[in-house]
Amino acid sequence: MIENIKNKAQEEKVPIIKDGGLEFLLKTIKERKIKDILELGTAVGYSSINMALLDEGIKIDTIEKNEEMYKQAITNIKNEGLDKQITVHFCPIEDYKTNKKYDLIFVDAAKAQYLKYTEQFLNNLKENGIFIYDNLVFHGMIYDVDKIKNRNTRSLVKKIINFREIMRNDKRFDIMFYEDVGDGLLVASRRKGGRE
Ligand SMILES: C[S@@+](CC[C@H](N)C(=O)[O-])C[C@H]1O[C@@H](n2cnc3c(N)ncnc32)[C@H](O)[C@@H]1O
Repeated sequence: MIENIKNKAQEEKVPIIKDGGLEFLLKTIKERKIKDILELGTAVGYSSINMALLDEGIKIDTIEKNEEMYKQAITNIKNEGLDKQITVHFCPIEDYKTNKKYDLIFVDAAKAQYLKYTEQFLNNLKENGIFIYDNLVFHGMIYDVDKIKNRNTRSLVKKIINFREIMRNDKRFDIMFYEDVGDGLLVASRRKGGRE
């Protein structure tokens, strides 16, 4: 079933998490006994279904603004019998406000907005919670930004590079880059007793 969702997404060129990234994500959830997850960027529900299948105690809020994606996600999640574990919020991430606290905030939406999302959801992270960001090598393009011909792509990749730098220097977080995992992952946890 889950393979069908993956195959269909790939055929229709819906961007979903790479195998290596997913494996890492699931391993981290298991090791840390993560239960409450916020996902930014649902697409067709592939990553959220995979996360929910790990344990029925896992609860996920996931946000998607594209109606077609949202509808497909709802169908896929229902078909997997996971609608009690996964709630899909049909709205722009920018409009999602909650007091809930999460063990994991998985950031997989508009790459140019990662800094904004970090500030928006920082207070929704539990004390020992983590952010995981996907696509931080952006298909290897971050290593060769000057060779990118398309202006919009170049500008996006520069924003990703900037985000990486800012996170590297942000004293509020302990960070770990996994350049070779999936499309490049970053794990950020709040620094204990960290300086503001
Ligand atoms: C990379 S895909 C998510 C893939 C999914 N996490 C997976 O691995 O199965 C990113 C999704 O984020 C959605 N998105 C981008 N910007 C958004 C925003 N500002 N608000 C809500 N959704 C957004 C896009 O429509 C797209 O479906």
